[in-house]
Amino acid sequence: MKTLLSEEQLREGIRRLAESIHAHYRDKPLTIVGVLIGSIVLLADLIRLLNMPLRVDLVQARSYRSGTRPGPLVLNTDLLSDGIRDRDVLLVDDIFDTGHTLWELIPQIDELGPASLKCAVLLMKQGRCEVEMKPDFVGFEVPDAFVVGYGLDYRDRYRNLPYVAMLEPGEMQEIGDRG
Ligand code: IMP
Ligand code: MG
Repeated sequence: MKTLLSEEQLREGIRRLAESIHAHYRDKPLTIVGVLIGSIVLLADLIRLLNMPLRVDLVQARSYRSGTRPGPLVLNTDLLSDGIRDRDVLLVDDIFDTGHTLWELIPQIDELGPASLKCAVLLMKQGRCEVEMKPDFVGFEVPDAFVVGYGLDYRDRYRNLPYVAMLEPGEMQEIGDRG
């Protein structure tokens, strides 16, 4: 496993991310909608850097991936409060890979009538986008590899690493074999 972003680099990147979010919304009340489960670590750090009136909401997105291969996406918006209407909403996810998760989530949230809707991601994988959108706020660009840590898992592992690392194909195979 190779470290891609150290704790220090993450701290600095998230500070910059928070600054651009704050610069955009100023002190207008904002609703942050975190995409479970991968965004939880980012969410906890990001909201503590945003000195503005905030509400936090959650949605769940699961793609039945077997390991790294994407499967059908299941979105659960039942956790969302009914207070989205006329609010400025910022969707927050861990990583933008093919983009399908946010591409499918955005119209569903839009239906609830927010005043505005933007999205922020910690990581953006290079050369993988399959949809006609880009996240509005990006923490870091990362190479096209499977990354783990700081909320991102591989088969339920490594979500709790305090840094972001790249898994080598051999390591993935080994974990896959053990199940
Ligand atoms: P997308 O829909 O292809 O953009 O993928 C988004 C979701 O897939 C993310 O929210 C992650 O949960 C998951 N994902 C994509 N790439 C990775 C990765 O490299 N490591 C861990 N999870 C990933
Ligand atoms: Mg996710």
